[in-house]
Amino acid sequence: MSRDVHLIDHPLVQHKLTLMRRKDTSTKSFRELAHEISILLAYELTRDMPMQEVEIETPLERMTSRMIDGKKVVLASILRAGNGLLDGMLQVLPAARVGHIGLYRDPVSLQAVEYYFKMPQDMQERDVIVLDPMLATGNSAVAAVTRLKATGPRSIRFVCLVSCPEGIRTFHEHHPDVPIYTPAIDRGLNDHGYIVPGLGDAGDRIFGTK
Ligand code: URA
Repeated sequence: MSRDVHLIDHPLVQHKLTLMRRKDTSTKSFRELAHEISILLAYELTRDMPMQEVEIETPLERMTSRMIDGKKVVLASILRAGNGLLDGMLQVLPAARVGHIGLYRDPVSLQAVEYYFKMPQDMQERDVIVLDPMLATGNSAVAAVTRLKATGPRSIRFVCLVSCPEGIRTFHEHHPDVPIYTPAIDRGLNDHGYIVPGLGDAGDRIFGTK
């Protein structure tokens, strides 16, 4: 079992994440940065996607060239904050299918409760990228991936903006086969299940609801 964690330490990603963390960053800037950082994350996430050789014709001659193998990728957004990463990813993967998983965190138990789940057809032939900006307790991510696995996709990857040791441990205890892609592993969780130092409530900051 691999328990892979890909730390994305590209300077552009780190710079944008620092701007997002700052408490005086406006909703507009936060949203724009989420968009920009998602494009860069998508580049890293797709680095080792399976390829297939296809016959094409250039204006000059026929050739064999490479394309991503299999059916279109699925971007599975964990509502609502995952949607903040969707547009940027779709800019790089414009033909990707989009699935949504609605989970809320019970404020007392901090457990994930599902209220919505919609994925495309033919999941057996698809590679899934699960989007959630914060890997905090790990409970939502675990529940989302458990539910996704029941649809039998070819592969699953998980991407976030900020993670912490507790979240990574819990996630990989349940899903050691699913790699995590994250630009940051922060110190830990506070008493309310927020990542510290973190960036606050990602959903509120993306949608301007606080
Ligand atoms: N969800 C967030 O939006 N932020 C955290 O720090 C933890 C969970």
